[in-house]
Amino acid sequence: MQNHVHNWIDVAAEEDCVEGHAIEVLVEGELIAVFHDQGQWYAMDGMCAHQGGPIAQGHVADGCVTCPWHGWQYELSTGIQTINRQPLQKTYAVRAIDGRVEIDMNS
Ligand code: FES
Repeated sequence: MQNHVHNWIDVAAEEDCVEGHAIEVLVEGELIAVFHDQGQWYAMDGMCAHQGGPIAQGHVADGCVTCPWHGWQYELSTGIQTINRQPLQKTYAVRAIDGRVEIDMNS
């Protein structure tokens, strides 16, 4: 079995992503929404799978984000759309370490 070796990319300062909010970062040409919610970090495709809405500007509650454009809702940890239960939104491994936020784009 092959272990996945993380390739962490520094994307932001931890203090730039306030608890309960999200920021947008551009990583390797991809727009990523980074969430800091209830002490956990999450990262997902920053463009909604529906029509490309800005996911980072969505309302966060109960571990889910609601797209501000038409209300599609995704689980932060899985990218699963809560109505049809399909994993429509790509998610990435993310961690906060030494005051920096890092994402693994290959995860
Ligand atoms: S673009 Fe996100 S719900 Fe339509």
